[in-house]
Amino acid sequence: MKVTVVGTGYVGLVSGACLAEVGNDVLCLDVDPAKIRILKEGGIPIFEPGLLEMVRRNVAAGRLRFTTDVAESVAHGTIQFIAVGTPPDEDGSADLQYVTAAARAIGRHMDEYKVIVDKSTVPVGTADKVRTAVGDELAKRGLRGDFSVVSNPEFLKEGAAVDDFMRPDRIVVGADEARAIELMRALYAPFQRNHERLIIMDVRSAELTKYAANAMLATRISFMNELANLAEKLGADIEMVRQGIGSDPRIGYHFLYPGCGYGGSCFPKDVQALQRTARLDAGIELKVLNAVEEANDEQKRVLTRKVKARFGDDLSGRRFAIWGLAFKPNTDDMREAPSRQLIADLFAAGAVVSAYDPVAMHEAQRIFAGETRLNFTENPLDALDGADALIIVTEWKEFRSPDFAVVKERLKQALIFDGRNLYEPKLPRSFGIEYHAIGRL
Ligand SMILES: NC(=O)c1ccc[n+]([C@@H]2O[C@H](COP(=O)([O-])OP(=O)(O)OC[C@H]3O[C@@H](n4cnc5c(N)ncnc54)[C@H](O)[C@@H]3O)[C@@H](O)[C@H]2O)c1
Repeated sequence: MKVTVVGTGYVGLVSGACLAEVGNDVLCLDVDPAKIRILKEGGIPIFEPGLLEMVRRNVAAGRLRFTTDVAESVAHGTIQFIAVGTPPDEDGSADLQYVTAAARAIGRHMDEYKVIVDKSTVPVGTADKVRTAVGDELAKRGLRGDFSVVSNPEFLKEGAAVDDFMRPDRIVVGADEARAIELMRALYAPFQRNHERLIIMDVRSAELTKYAANAMLATRISFMNELANLAEKLGADIEMVRQGIGSDPRIGYHFLYPGCGYGGSCFPKDVQALQRTARLDAGIELKVLNAVEEANDEQKRVLTRKVKARFGDDLSGRRFAIWGLAFKPNTDDMREAPSRQLIADLFAAGAVVSAYDPVAMHEAQRIFAGETRLNFTENPLDALDGADALIIVTEWKEFRSPDFAVVKERLKQALIFDGRNLYEPKLPRSFGIEYHAIGRL
């Protein structure tokens, strides 16, 4: 099938590459010429495991191409995926300007039947707006046009995005027209060979499903974080509690890890956008989500609170080593990362920081450009030299089993604040390291 993907970010590029991998003829469009240049030169503009190889393989096979030419991209695909960003507007609602611009561009150029697929995370009612935007542009050209609008939210996880797309738990398709449903069914057939994963529903339910999923996951995280803070005060161990409740199949083990708050490009903005939709479009206050967001904002400061409880509020003259800057492992994405809050808090209290992350340092350099209080090191151990403590913010695999004797030797003070509960507390303590985790004894 001929497929166009509009937007070559984490979702667009992964979707384009995976759709090409199963034999489709895919053209990816982006308005950012720098990204398209990198892609045309054989690179990829983001870090995502397995993606570079897949992109190269499909480019070489002639199934995957990149362009900044809108007329070419609209002409190419019968199916036009919109996978552009939907960042938070000033009031927290989803900013739909990029989605609308992409829809208008399709309406300006299309001259045959198209299925326009919203893959971006968009509030309920956006498919109607896309339909209107395309229709307006067609009307300007004196055409009525033949097109369907489908909602197909994406559930991939950064860091495992290729695998998630190739082996999805479910594929949600919100559509009203049989013709569009048949095309979507055919497109996704190769991804569900052992059992049916396609869940067909109405458009509005599909749009809401994506927000419901992210809001539910964010809720689990915030709830566990609050329980961890409580466990600490009560002298209980949250790790034991986690195992005790996770073993209940109604609860399960996934997404029950306490930590230093959720971040990333999805949970924070999607929780906010759902609250806004409820408040403005339905007159309903989502009280649970309000609390989830408030708890998370506080949790992003949990490491600062622990550091200050240990060293006092004035941290001037102190240096801290940070392991992990990305909002989670296996990605270079630092959008809303807890590390950003921590670093800002440490600076505000007068401290300086040495940081290490396996892949997000180039992104951190861009974010903190010109910041003299922050330096980056080439390996995790170098960050420890002269530091008053090590603070672990992202649970990269390479941090899971350090040589604690060396860690102790390199640090100025033998002290670890672990925002991800990576170690059995006994272990670092057996080396004479003072160890603080989240909700653990
Ligand atoms: N990142 C994730 O893990 C993830 C997972 C599921 C869903 N989503 C959703 O998918 C959407 C995209 O997220 P992302 O992380 O891939 O975003 P991103 O910011 O990485 O990429 C968006 C891309 O769209 C391009 N773009 C913007 N306007 C355009 C236009 N008119 N025409 C062509 N290209 C245009 C931008 O230049 C950018 O390259 C968002 O709605 C997000 O909420 C993201």
